[in-house]
Amino acid sequence: MSVRVIAIDGPAGSGKSSVARALATALGWSFLDTGAMYRAVTVEALRQGVDVHDVTAMGELAREVDVTTLPRVSVNGRDVEDEIRTETVNDAVSIVAANALVRHQMVRRQREFAGAQPLGTVVEGRDITTVVFPNATLKVFLTASLEERARRRGEEGEASVARRDVADSTREASPLRQAHDALVLDTTGREVGDAVEEIMEWLKHKTLS
Ligand code: DC
Repeated sequence: MSVRVIAIDGPAGSGKSSVARALATALGWSFLDTGAMYRAVTVEALRQGVDVHDVTAMGELAREVDVTTLPRVSVNGRDVEDEIRTETVNDAVSIVAANALVRHQMVRRQREFAGAQPLGTVVEGRDITTVVFPNATLKVFLTASLEERARRRGEEGEASVARRDVADSTREASPLRQAHDALVLDTTGREVGDAVEEIMEWLKHKTLS
């Protein structure tokens, strides 16, 4: 039996987390925030004093750490939920996420997670539709204007969000890009519930066809 996955990608602040979480709740499916996994590894590296630019050391760390995202984000059993969105982590996480060794470890865990869920999983990130689950049941690419995305990110600011966009979409390892068969949803000025309804409609058509 194939694994049921709704894969959602998009830039920072496009609404991925809120939409994916609400969609999972509406469907009774599991939810996986893959950005939180990269953030958790980053927090642990900073705590252990591992140089985030050291590709081999970071790959080793990513292989060894135990990362869970639910009910709260934790590393090796330590709750880091309140530490993953600091300015320091925002800056360092793009470096960590550009490391192919780290990505390999995270992708393996993401596939394992989805494979173990009884009903299905809504997975959100940057490479979910293109690399992690290219055969997902449904693929969605969320967008929104830079202004609105920065507003949603609160204190992070437009310049920092734009900087992360460039880093995430120009890196060599699994850059953020729109899969050719992903359905695009612009969330600018739209409510979360509205976006969820639209995706549920798409899913209905997909599973009926
Ligand atoms: O979605 P987010 O802002 O929490 O993601 C944190 C960082 O991790 C961001 O710089 C992009 C990166 N990321 C990634 O490269 N691949 C993913 N599947 C998810 C996030």
